[in-house]
Amino acid sequence: MDLKNKVVLITGASSGIGKATAMKLASEGASVVLCARSEDELKDLKGEIENDGGKALVVKTDVTKPDDFKNAVSRTLDEYGSIDVLINNAGLMPLSYVEKLKTDEWEKMVDVNIKGVLNGVAAVLPTLRKNKSGHIINISSSAAHNYFPGGAVYCATKIAVKMFSEGLRKELAPEYGINVTSIEPGAVDTSLFETITDDDIKEKMKGMEGMTTLETEDIANAIFYALSQPDRVNVNDVYIMPTEQG
Ligand SMILES: NC(=O)c1ccc[n+]([C@@H]2O[C@H](COP(=O)([O-])OP(=O)(O)OC[C@H]3O[C@@H](n4cnc5c(N)ncnc54)[C@H](OP(=O)(O)O)[C@@H]3O)[C@@H](O)[C@H]2O)c1
Repeated sequence: MDLKNKVVLITGASSGIGKATAMKLASEGASVVLCARSEDELKDLKGEIENDGGKALVVKTDVTKPDDFKNAVSRTLDEYGSIDVLINNAGLMPLSYVEKLKTDEWEKMVDVNIKGVLNGVAAVLPTLRKNKSGHIINISSSAAHNYFPGGAVYCATKIAVKMFSEGLRKELAPEYGINVTSIEPGAVDTSLFETITDDDIKEKMKGMEGMTTLETEDIANAIFYALSQPDRVNVNDVYIMPTEQG
C-alpha cells in the first residue's frame, strides 16, 4: 500500500507506540486519525504533525465504548471520505499474580485489550468491506508467545488478539482483500509499565533495569513495513524482541 493520501485510524495515539506510529505514518503521507481518551495530548500531537506538513484529526475515543468508535468512524468519513487502515493499539498491562485477585484490573485488561479491538473492527469493517480493500493492524505482544511473572491475564488478552487477527485474516483477506497483521513486540520504552499497581511485580521489574529495550520508533517502522507491502502480500505476524531480552 502506498500511504500517500491513505486514511489511518490509530487508537492509543496519545503516547508511546501509538504516538510514534502516527508521526511515522503521517510523515509517509497518510492522513491520521488520532484516538485516545487524553484529548490534550492528542491535540499537541496533531499540532506537531501539522507543523511537519502532515494531516491529522483528533477524535476523543474510549475504545471500551462502541459508540465512541462509531463516532470516530463517522467523524473520519466526514473529514476524509474513507478509511483505509485501522491500528488497534490501545492497551494496558497492570500485571499481578492471580492469587491476589485484582479482578477489577483483570476486567479492565479484557475490556481494553480484547473488547477494544473487537469494537474497533466492528466500527470500521462496513467501510473496508464496501471498499474491498484495507488493512487492520492489531498490537498484540511477545506475551502472546511467552508467559512472564504476573502476566497470566495480560498474556491471555494478547494471545486472544493474535488469534483473533488470524481469524480475521482468514475470513477477510481472500474474500474482501482486507489484510490483517498482528504486531508482537517485546519490551518497548513506554509508559505501559506505569499501569502496574502491584508492589511485588514492580520489585521484579527492577531486574529489567539497565536492559536496552526497543524504541517506539522500532515498532512504528515494523507497522510501516507491514503496511507498505504490495496488496498481494499479507504480513501475518511481526514478532520483534529487544536483542538483550531473553
Ligand atoms: N511497551 C511495551 O513493552 C509493549 C510490548 C508489547 C505490546 N505492547 C502493546 O502496545 C500497545 C501500546 O502501548 P504502549 O506501550 O505504547 O503504552 P502507553 O504509552 O501506555 O500507551 C497506551 C495507550 O493506550 C491508550 N488507552 C488506554 N486505555 C484506553 C481506552 N480505554 N480507550 C482509548 N485508549 C486507551 C492510552 O491513551 P489514553 O490514556 O489517553 O486513553 C495510551 O495512548 C498496548 O496494546 C500494549 O499492550 C506494549
